[in-house]
Amino acid sequence: MKQNIHDVREWDRFLIPYTQTVEELKIKFKSIRNGYREVSEYSPIEFITGRVKKVSSILEKSKRHDIPFDQIKDQMEDIAGIRIMCQLLDDIYTVVEHIRERDGHDFEIVYEKDYIHDYKDSGYRSYHMVIRYPVQTAFGLEKVLAEIQIRTLAMNFWATIEHSLNYKYRQNIPDSIRQRLQQAAIAVWSLDNEMLQIKDEIMQAQAMFEANSNIIRSITEQLQLIKTLGDAGTAARLQAKFEQILDLSSNEQLEVLLEEIQSHIPSIEEI
Ligand code: GTP
Ligand code: MG
Repeated sequence: MKQNIHDVREWDRFLIPYTQTVEELKIKFKSIRNGYREVSEYSPIEFITGRVKKVSSILEKSKRHDIPFDQIKDQMEDIAGIRIMCQLLDDIYTVVEHIRERDGHDFEIVYEKDYIHDYKDSGYRSYHMVIRYPVQTAFGLEKVLAEIQIRTLAMNFWATIEHSLNYKYRQNIPDSIRQRLQQAAIAVWSLDNEMLQIKDEIMQAQAMFEANSNIIRSITEQLQLIKTLGDAGTAARLQAKFEQILDLSSNEQLEVLLEEIQSHIPSIEEI
């Protein structure tokens, strides 16, 4: 930035490509998660958040790292930031692989930092990837840096709490609390590893649940179709049957019912 740092409108203008990048990246990764869910598969992505760094934080960081204003764009990597939360430790590396496969397609990877194995003194663990993202704005093509943090739900829980304590103590967390946080980070690591031991069970349970809700959605839609086609009697009878076997733990009976319902729907040629 070469402009007046106190001019709010100049900051607004500067942040446009970053805001757009965060929105686009969130949509892209949410679509990946939704894709898995649509075909009733376990998703390595649980949820995504994103934010654009506040002007006050940009100014504070540029001071702390001694970044001249005209170099903020090239040197500050986390003005646009998204976080991808995973349920299991393994999922992080599945997501990392996925992002690597996109390198050179919709963005370029600038560098990666594995703070999972090389965890920080604080106890912080996450996988970081910095990318260069091309974004078409109202004012033309811009390439902005963005930081992607990939972590488990447990790591996110820890980092969120540690971050708020850092904020409260202005980076000077008392030793006793710092040590407790380090202990808690060890507990988080052990929890993530324990969960990994029952990964297959977790994945099966969740895929079953997704399949179940997809079948229920089909049944509901098709019952509606039968009603619309004018066969209210059949629809009511099948609806009653549906309510009777509506059991979230068994997919088999629901699948049989779905077939029965489908047999009442005339094929295109018959309509
Ligand atoms: P800043 O820490 O923002 O100055 O960036 P940096 O250039 O030193 O990069 P680094 O990879 O150390 O950290 C980037 C980001 O990771 C931070 O902005 C935080 O979101 C997160 N992070 C890094 N270390 C910690 C930590 O000890 N605790 C928490 N809660 N988050 C951390
Ligand atoms: Mg740092």
